[in-house]
Amino acid sequence: MNVLITGAGGQLGRALTVLAPPEVIVRGVTHAELDIADAARVDAVLDDFKPALLVTAAAFTRVDAAETAPTAAERANATGPATCSTRSLRTTGSWRRASRAAPRRRADHRAL
Ligand SMILES: NC(=O)c1ccc[n+]([C@@H]2O[C@H](COP(=O)([O-])OP(=O)(O)OC[C@H]3O[C@@H](n4cnc5c(N)ncnc54)[C@H](OP(=O)(O)O)[C@@H]3O)[C@@H](O)[C@H]2O)c1
Repeated sequence: MNVLITGAGGQLGRALTVLAPPEVIVRGVTHAELDIADAARVDAVLDDFKPALLVTAAAFTRVDAAETAPTAAERANATGPATCSTRSLRTTGSWRRASRAAPRRRADHRAL
C-alpha cells in the first residue's frame, strides 16, 4: 500500500515516515518538494505515486508568527488541507477525515 506523507520535514512527518511498517511503501514529501496548497503539484504527486492513503502532516505551527505571515498560515492550515482533500477525492473517489477539526476557509473565520 502506498502512503504519501506531506510535511515530511516536520516533527510529525519525520516520525510517521520512520515508524511506518515494512509492508507500507511510504513517500514523505517536504515543504520544499510539495506545497500542499498548490493544486497542480498535489495532482502531479498523486498521479505519480497513486497513494491509497494521504497523511497531511504539513502545518503552520508557529502560532505567534501567523500574525505576521497570514498567507503562509492560511496556505498550510486552510487552503492546503482543503486542496489535499478535494484532489484526493478526484483521484481516489473517497476521503476520510481523521482530524477533529475541519479545515476552515477565510469565510468561516469571518462568520465566527
Ligand atoms: N508534533 C506532535 O507531537 C504532533 C502531535 C499531534 C498532532 N500534531 C499536528 O501535526 C501537524 C504538524 O505538527 P509538527 O509538530 O510536525 O509541526 P512542524 O514540525 O512545524 O512541521 C510542519 C511541517 O509542515 C511544513 N509546511 C508548512 N507549510 C506547508 C505547506 N504549505 N505545504 C507543505 N508543507 C508545509 C513545514 O515546512 P517549513 O518549516 O519548511 O515551512 C514543516 O516541515 C500539526 O497540525 C500539529 O498540530 C503534531
